[in-house]
Amino acid sequence: MAAPLISPSILSADFARLGEEVRAIDAAGADWIHVDVMDGHFVPNITIGPAVVKALRPHTTKPFDVHLMISPVDAYLQAFADAGADIITVHPEAGPHIHRTVQAIRALGKKAGVSLNPGTPAKMLDYLIDDVDLVLVMSVNPGFGGQSFISSQLRKIEAVRKMIDKSGRDIRLEVDGGVDLTTIGSCVAAGADVLVAGTATFRGGPERYAENIAGLKQAGQQAMPLDEPAGGPR
Ligand code: DX5
Ligand code: ZN
Repeated sequence: MAAPLISPSILSADFARLGEEVRAIDAAGADWIHVDVMDGHFVPNITIGPAVVKALRPHTTKPFDVHLMISPVDAYLQAFADAGADIITVHPEAGPHIHRTVQAIRALGKKAGVSLNPGTPAKMLDYLIDDVDLVLVMSVNPGFGGQSFISSQLRKIEAVRKMIDKSGRDIRLEVDGGVDLTTIGSCVAAGADVLVAGTATFRGGPERYAENIAGLKQAGQQAMPLDEPAGGPR
């Protein structure tokens, strides 16, 4: 397995200087840029829309990992695709038809992700796994940055990792919420390969971003499951 990717959530950035912040995390080693879109209806917070994504697009060539926490979602897919999203992730609960939504994202030429809330079982993926490019396991309830990691989600990460491996498809397993130096290792050991980090990236201000991202990568890498058991294949 390749080294885990870090996708800093710009929810924790300085919103008055977003372009600069995106350039700073790009230079600091971010692999993707995680954009949390909230509507004050599906989740109890309002953040940013497609106009902001479009305005940020020229500031980096890194993939925009757009996490839509909005309902209904279908009417906005095209706008986020046009704005420059590379990966568009949606929640099954944002309905009404998750399979149709996934197909619509792919028809726009974008990677499709499905996000599982802490109370949503891995089983939700049974009839979606063959059509998605990414599964996002939420390790906090969506809506706010800076929440504590819900450790029961580690079992779900393990279950999703098994489903992905069984599918034989190239599907990313991303974990979002409360990821920091103390929790990233268990996420990676459970099978995650992309980690969202808001608070843990932006903590300490721009002069710390590179150190924060490098620390997360290192802690993640150390926890990576071995491809083969020690001593070679059995
Ligand atoms: C929560 C968002 C997350 C979150 C991450 O609804 O999807 O991306 O803000 O922030 P931290 O890393 O601070 O938990
Ligand atoms: Zn998110």
